[in-house]
Amino acid sequence: MNHLIDIKNLKNEEILEIIELAKYYEKHVPEGTQRKKQKGSVVLLFFENSTRTRFSFEMASRKLGLDVFNFEAQNSSISKGEGVFDTLNNLNAIGCDIAIIRHTKEGFIEELARKHYAYELSLVNAGEGKSSHPTQALLDFYTLTKHLGSLDGKKIVIVGDITHSRVAKSNIELLSRFGAKIVCCSPDYFKDSTLKHIKYEFDINTALKDADAVMGLRIQKERLENQIPLANYIKDYQINEKNMPKNAILMHPGPVNRDVEISSALLDTKGDVIIEQPRNGVFVRMAVLDIIFEGVQR
Ligand code: CP
Repeated sequence: MNHLIDIKNLKNEEILEIIELAKYYEKHVPEGTQRKKQKGSVVLLFFENSTRTRFSFEMASRKLGLDVFNFEAQNSSISKGEGVFDTLNNLNAIGCDIAIIRHTKEGFIEELARKHYAYELSLVNAGEGKSSHPTQALLDFYTLTKHLGSLDGKKIVIVGDITHSRVAKSNIELLSRFGAKIVCCSPDYFKDSTLKHIKYEFDINTALKDADAVMGLRIQKERLENQIPLANYIKDYQINEKNMPKNAILMHPGPVNRDVEISSALLDTKGDVIIEQPRNGVFVRMAVLDIIFEGVQR
């Protein structure tokens, strides 16, 4: 694996290899031991804001013994007109081995990977537009299997702004491949018409019935073209103490808008898995970086 750009580029056995290695890191991180110390440099280029993904990749890199650098676009020569491709070429020449990129434009990281320098600089997608967030899906898979075991036949309900959610797209791709029954639930204005093969429910109580896991999504105000009727959305689609199935696990990729997609009361009593997700993300990202470094060194 030289790059990680999209879940669809990973075979199931590669996904399982990442998960197995993440399990190893989960056991060994507290003692500070690693499978082996890596030598190399990682640069984080985030063109959209982030808390979890950026810190998680930074933590994962440090735990692996990698040097990690944060690229601040506004303080860089991007502000003088240099493009991302030339920036990466120069960062590679300076000695960076892996570039972890978050960007607004769908297909951008794939485009960069097709250029020649990509043989020497591995690219990792840290969330791209509304289309893909592969390491979030991998950490969600890791979290789900820890709680539910095999996902075969398990009902996973994704509630909220499906249209603008890269997390939903990558999770649907990954979890369906391992047998999960995905149900999407949102008002019509958040329905993604490209997801034709996915079961859709407009009524939240019907959607959540017998769910094994419920995944809330943030309303992505920064990507909305039109205002939405927020009070109606909260009334009809908020996950709360009344509609949340007792035995299901509650997930959310974060950041959570309290009392919008999930009620505070539910978050404060049943939000433990939501905090476990970013914790698991460190182990999963350690595994991804480790496997990429191994591939580069072979
Ligand atoms: N889940 C996620 O991508 O969160 P951040 O935007 O904080 O990285």
